[in-house]
Amino acid sequence: MAIAKKDLLSLSDLSVDEIQEIFAVAREMKTVIAGEDKKHPVLRGRSVINLFYENSTRTRSSFEIAGKYLGADVVNISASSSSVTKGESLKDTAKTIDRLAPDVIIMRHGASGAHEVLAQNVKARVINAGDGAHQHPTQALLDMFTITEKKGSLEGLKIAIVGDILHSRVARSDVWGFRALGADVTLCAPPTLMPSHAADLGVTVTYDMNEAVKDADVIVMLRIQLERQKAGMFPSVREYAAFYCLTEERLALAKPDCLVMHPGPINRGIEISGEIADGVQSVIDEQVENGLAVRMALLSMMGGYQNDVN
Ligand code: NCD
Repeated sequence: MAIAKKDLLSLSDLSVDEIQEIFAVAREMKTVIAGEDKKHPVLRGRSVINLFYENSTRTRSSFEIAGKYLGADVVNISASSSSVTKGESLKDTAKTIDRLAPDVIIMRHGASGAHEVLAQNVKARVINAGDGAHQHPTQALLDMFTITEKKGSLEGLKIAIVGDILHSRVARSDVWGFRALGADVTLCAPPTLMPSHAADLGVTVTYDMNEAVKDADVIVMLRIQLERQKAGMFPSVREYAAFYCLTEERLALAKPDCLVMHPGPINRGIEISGEIADGVQSVIDEQVENGLAVRMALLSMMGGYQNDVN
């Protein structure tokens, strides 16, 4: 199955059927990754550009390796080493890159909505690897895939998302995806880090972490996005941790088989205790592994000859 829309800018660009198909292909990709020969050259002759205006370890490396395992030529461009530092606009960068005839451009950018500008100025298909506090569709796909693998499906699960919701593109994509697959979502943050429109998203909103994690099947912890925050959104990191760090006592309120997730990078002792991050309920490492499989699936479905979109 091809992905109908040219670009993946927001998770809602995908239908539930397309999401399920991405999961089916990701399961095949896991077999490829586990095999001796990881080359699965369905994108041979195709090219992928990773255009990163913000820092990244997991997302960028997994898109790069995904492209390489699929046989594509992959080029990485980071803002700090590009003509952006010489004042080039995103539109001009887009037009320049497009002349190199890439098939897929993966971009991370600090401005919400920057991907619309890119998509309007290139022939290549665009995948959003994070835009400001707006969307991070592939993180949500790998989160949903990880939960599906562990729990069978998301239908009827109670999922708590806790932390800096206001600045989290992961939370925005996760909420849409988790609800689309039938989960009940609770958002929990200090009042200053909860978006004012949160209750309109079809979720339960609470400022009390014990209430959020009670009987949860899945807890998604989020990093405090200090780089996006204005000063004074909470008194101190220590005080934040006292109320919102996932500790053994708080985890004990959730279901005994509750999964603990975090998109990374994690701040041990601030949003999650080190013991829990490394503990038996944590699937943080599996999220990274599944991120590779999901991105291989997505790239193979968006970048292959058979899937060309006009
Ligand atoms: C997330 C991001 O960049 O939005 N990280 C990631 O992609 N794995 C979350 C974060 O930076 O806290």
